[in-house]
Amino acid sequence: MKLSIYLAAALCGLSSSADNGQAPLVYEQSGSNIKNVAIIGAGAGGASSAYHLAKFAASAGRPVNITVFERNSYIGGRSTTVDAYDDPNYPVELGASIFVETNHILFNATKEFNLSTNAFITQSDIPGAGLAVWNGEEFVITQSGGSGWWDIAKLFWRYGLGPMKTMRLVKEVVGKFLEMYDEPAFPFQSLTQVGQDVGLLAVTAATGTQYLEENGITGDFGQEIVQASTRVNYAQNLDYIHGLEAMVSMAAENAQAVTGGNWQIFASMIQASQATALLETSVIAIEKTKHGRYQLRFSDAGTESSADPGSQTFDDVVLATPYQYSNISLPEELTAPDTIPYVQLHVTLFTSPHLLSPSFFGQKPDNPAPRVVLTTLPKREEPASGSEGVGSPGFFSISLLRQVTNPKSSRPEYLYKIFSAAPPNSTFLHNLLGVEHEDGDEIEESKNRPITWCYRKVWNSYPYEFPRVTFERIELGKNLWYTGAMDSFINGLTTTTEQLARLNIPAETESR
Ligand SMILES: *[C@@H]1O[C@H](CO)[C@@H](O)[C@H](O)[C@H]1NC(C)=O
Ligand SMILES: *[C@@H]1O[C@H](CO)[C@@H](O)[C@H](O)[C@H]1NC(C)=O
Ligand SMILES: *[C@@H]1O[C@H](CO)[C@@H](O)[C@H](O)[C@H]1NC(C)=O
Ligand SMILES: *[C@@H]1O[C@H](CO)[C@@H](O)[C@H](O)[C@H]1NC(C)=O
Ligand SMILES: *[C@@H]1O[C@H](CO)[C@@H](O)[C@H](O)[C@H]1NC(C)=O
Repeated sequence: MKLSIYLAAALCGLSSSADNGQAPLVYEQSGSNIKNVAIIGAGAGGASSAYHLAKFAASAGRPVNITVFERNSYIGGRSTTVDAYDDPNYPVELGASIFVETNHILFNATKEFNLSTNAFITQSDIPGAGLAVWNGEEFVITQSGGSGWWDIAKLFWRYGLGPMKTMRLVKEVVGKFLEMYDEPAFPFQSLTQVGQDVGLLAVTAATGTQYLEENGITGDFGQEIVQASTRVNYAQNLDYIHGLEAMVSMAAENAQAVTGGNWQIFASMIQASQATALLETSVIAIEKTKHGRYQLRFSDAGTESSADPGSQTFDDVVLATPYQYSNISLPEELTAPDTIPYVQLHVTLFTSPHLLSPSFFGQKPDNPAPRVVLTTLPKREEPASGSEGVGSPGFFSISLLRQVTNPKSSRPEYLYKIFSAAPPNSTFLHNLLGVEHEDGDEIEESKNRPITWCYRKVWNSYPYEFPRVTFERIELGKNLWYTGAMDSFINGLTTTTEQLARLNIPAETESR
């Protein structure tokens, strides 16, 4: 997300890198004083690039004409909603569901675009604790009450100074990250270089586990709380995720969501940029013209195989989608970005008149299950990476999002979201809700069934953030930019953080 500010600066010739700051006022190749820019992808990165580019261009008095290409039929990418019960009165986030105050860009954007937000806290009038961490055998910690906050006394009692030390460390690391966007580091040429300059390479070089240890945070806090947080936010265990991402997963102050869907931020950004948004339009190829411009070849959704796709020529191109999933051919002389392993996250949304079953979690029937269940691994279990990392708990998180009224039956029901590494099957869902299951019983989407509506989605949600010290280039070729470079560095001050509001520790504890 923030990378787009850099791209905007560079594209407008505002950065020291672009032609020694002497960007021509007339683009000779196009014979016009308007710079034509293509942005491929209308997700968070593309929308934010369009917005910042238009803003920089306006302040520099250099007209730009932006065209956004998006192969889906909607703006927002992984920030999108679906309708519970297929009823537009019940939009629910399918991907990125919250953003935090530290994310100034999104926070400010909601104000600028007059989007109303709600604080992301759990409903307390539903029985059960607000949050608990489950290791597949027992709850290692349960948050009492429904305030949406951890019980500080309890954390201190269980983990000593670990929580406070961690929060201090999170603040320090986020501070270093924000330095990347201030002079003198900004604008930067290379993520690897700027990471080194602001002192973050040591953080990305270590695993989350190592980084906590290096900073004197030992004991169970990392395994039980930080790992629950890296699992819910990134579907990764602490031994395999780098320190920066582990810290970011704990940066949860004041989590917000836009009422009706966070995608509205990105739609507003594209609108504000006055870009032409071409939806359901797939870019097939980027080719270099002999004048050093880029020709994009693209097709409409229905005409994928068309022998004569559309084409248009641009001065600059921003590739704002993971290259490996883009299916775009690059000019031959360019080295394509590396293929990086992505998490395949299974998201299951469903509604049910039932609460989660206490007995699924080994609790007595009169002891209601928590409304949000995060997971970690039992201590003796060796954490794995990849989809195996989910381990014996079998899922990353289960959340009761809110109470809803079924529009067909007018019955009160609950809306749930599960994150897992494989699609939860019927047996699992029946057990989770504590209802009888007969062989061949189809659980989903039927009026008298325990599950009244169900929606499943698999996202390539984010890369596996293994420790590393070198990062992808952000300029793939002259005037060809790549936002995906940022994904392996940090992915979470964007919008992909999830539920970490519930792992929040109020700011006051830091100074105590
Ligand atoms: C601006 O971009 C739009 C859409 O790509 C294109 O139709 C139009 O010709 C461009 N305008 C100029 C002045 O280049
Ligand atoms: C957000 O708004 C605050 C206060 O208006 C301002 O100081 C800050 O620079 C803005 N940040 C961004 C990233 O726009
Ligand atoms: C902002 O939104 C509120 C309610 O949606 C509306 O009443 C108000 O007029 C809007 N303000 C502006 C400046 O658009
Ligand atoms: C990728 O492009 C090729 C050729 O243009 C096409 O046959 C294929 O269906 C595309 N794949 C996806 C996933 O879009
Ligand atoms: C359903 O999933 C559970 C684990 O979640 C697994 O143990 C079980 O074998 C699966 N059952 C079927 C019929 O696939």
